[in-house]
Amino acid sequence: MRALTWQGLGDVRVEEVPDPRIVDPTDAIVRVTSTAICGSDLHLYGVLAPYLTPGDIIGHEFMGVVQELGANVSNLSVGDRVVVPFTISCGKCWMCQRGLFSQCETTQVREYDKGASLFGYTSLYGQVPGGQAEYVRVPHADFGPIKVPEGLPDERFLFLSDILPTAWQGVAYADVEPGSTVAILGLGPVGQLAVRCAQEQGAGRVIGVDLVPERLERARRLGAEVIDLGDGDVAHTLKEMTQGRGPDSVVDAVGMEAHGNPVAKRIIAMASRLPKPLAQPAIEKAGIDRLDALHTAIDAVRRGGTVSLSGVYGGAIDPMPLMTMFDKGITMRMGQCNVKRWTADLLEKLVDSDPFGVDDLTTHHLPLEKAPEAYKMFQEKSDGCIKVVLTP
Ligand SMILES: NC(=O)c1ccc[n+]([C@@H]2O[C@H](COP(=O)([O-])OP(=O)(O)OC[C@H]3O[C@@H](n4cnc5c(N)ncnc54)[C@H](O)[C@@H]3O)[C@@H](O)[C@H]2O)c1
Ligand SMILES: [Zn+2]
Ligand SMILES: [Zn+2]
Repeated sequence: MRALTWQGLGDVRVEEVPDPRIVDPTDAIVRVTSTAICGSDLHLYGVLAPYLTPGDIIGHEFMGVVQELGANVSNLSVGDRVVVPFTISCGKCWMCQRGLFSQCETTQVREYDKGASLFGYTSLYGQVPGGQAEYVRVPHADFGPIKVPEGLPDERFLFLSDILPTAWQGVAYADVEPGSTVAILGLGPVGQLAVRCAQEQGAGRVIGVDLVPERLERARRLGAEVIDLGDGDVAHTLKEMTQGRGPDSVVDAVGMEAHGNPVAKRIIAMASRLPKPLAQPAIEKAGIDRLDALHTAIDAVRRGGTVSLSGVYGGAIDPMPLMTMFDKGITMRMGQCNVKRWTADLLEKLVDSDPFGVDDLTTHHLPLEKAPEAYKMFQEKSDGCIKVVLTP
């Protein structure tokens, strides 16, 4: 089959690879009809390179049709249309029973002391072949895949694999209350959906922050007030807009590659280029994140407010303003999305309407063969790119 493989820093290629096969009786093989590129894939393209091996199949946002089933999968039939959550969870263990699907104790990657395995996401997360491919082996298919109705385009349901529940969880973890004010830092695909999720969860005001004009413009169309990162001190502006107090909640939908710290940018780039045995400790033991968005969130949020991190961070000794965090009495929540925890609620809302604006989030539909160009475009945010969907 054809699949997108990681080959090195900033180097992905579509290649011929062996077709996946059923290995465990709880596996399924899914023929992919649509697969998206995520901001998390951009970390693989750069910072997380030391955890990949040339030839790894990447991608974790995909949907398609069930092609083949292991003997113990009775909840699906061949031919079903399914979306597959990017977190691989068993549905039965202690963590899964508590809705903490991204911490599944059956698929945890103990070698690296990490949570649940993820599709297409480095050795830290199980090195499971990903979804930017014609076919995917889906482990724990007796629990994971979400059946979706026929009749609507893939884009209506595709984002249930990751970014829609991620945005929903980011807002839910931000303790949004009816009428409260939420700032969303980063208006990439996750931030765009978070704007709508915040409105849907009852926020009175949503303020979005980014530096890319078309991303700011789309958020404004969705009903958010917006701040351009280029216009100066974001935390100060957020306080000015909220009687000096700061927003009740701040969602960081940016993560470790935030714009705004050239020195950290150079250090990250250097760490990613070191030989593997040196690069991994540099990333795990050193603070390698660009913390601009996170520090803005902590500075801006009102006293007693909540900061929720959807953006991914990786460093172990990143400097944190603990005095401010303590003095302001901030609550912080974070983590990989517990996808299935939110599936039923979200799917119900998607069946006959589009409350989250998923139908027009995709700016570029391209064949899988164009994935290398698509990664570059999404990383550079060129050609008005907000979200890319690839068709194998
Ligand atoms: N927690 C999870 O389960 C989960 C799931 C999916 C994605 N993510 C993470 O969410 C983050 C966003 O993903 P995405 O797909 O929207 O990616 P993206 O890279 O397109 O979006 C990030 C946006 O932040 C903006 N930005 C950069 N620096 C900023 C700053 N200092 N202040 C405000 N905005 C800034 C960029 O211009 C960009 O629009 C990534 O870190 C990704 O890894 C987490
Ligand atoms: Zn993703
Ligand atoms: Zn589990």
